[in-house]
Amino acid sequence: MQLNVVERFITNNPLRAFVQRNVEGPLLRKMASLPEYILCLEIGCGRGIGAQVIAEQFGAQKVIAIDIDPEQIERAKRNLKPELKDMIEFKVADAMALDEPDEKFNAVFSFGVLHHMENWGRAVKEISRVLKKGGEFFFEEPFSPFLRNFLVRTLTAHPTGGEFDFDAFKNGLEENNIDIISMKHIRNIAIFGVGRKR
Ligand SMILES: C[S@@+](CC[C@H](N)C(=O)[O-])C[C@H]1O[C@@H](n2cnc3c(N)ncnc32)[C@H](O)[C@@H]1O
Repeated sequence: MQLNVVERFITNNPLRAFVQRNVEGPLLRKMASLPEYILCLEIGCGRGIGAQVIAEQFGAQKVIAIDIDPEQIERAKRNLKPELKDMIEFKVADAMALDEPDEKFNAVFSFGVLHHMENWGRAVKEISRVLKKGGEFFFEEPFSPFLRNFLVRTLTAHPTGGEFDFDAFKNGLEENNIDIISMKHIRNIAIFGVGRKR
């Protein structure tokens, strides 16, 4: 589901880029178990900062970064540093129906994206399908109690199919052969972590 005006402002804000580069990237990097992830996929890449973080902090040689919103993909292409142009490919695609072969990627990244899906379980199934065995899934997601907060509900537009709490999230990953191997769980508000495909 595409972002509304408020979400677009928050996502395309320089503060969001700063946090992604200097807090979320390093936090997830510390949780990673491999020294490098050669071929990576980012779902819901938005303006493209995450893809740059993956290239610069996770040792990726190639990053395919997709988003359902053509406007965000155009923004990501415009924002891309010239030195990363050969490493990162941005394209419009749906994370719930990926046009990628089975077991292609060493890692898949989702920076705050699954909760925007009409059916987050379908996206997890796709993530697992395109991950190599032993490949890792890096995620950062808010939980449903936070999304149902009055202010959040009023200002943002999240589909109910993207709501989950910690147990549902963990079970959803496990049912798709992904075990959480490291995580930082902030009460029932949000989770940062890594899962590994069996
Ligand atoms: C909250 S934004 C996060 C953007 C970026 N990852 C970040 O952290 O700044 C969620 C993004 O997911 C994208 N999105 C929503 N549904 C999607 C889908 N089915 N497939 C791919 N991208 C999707 C939206 O267009 C939006 O860019």
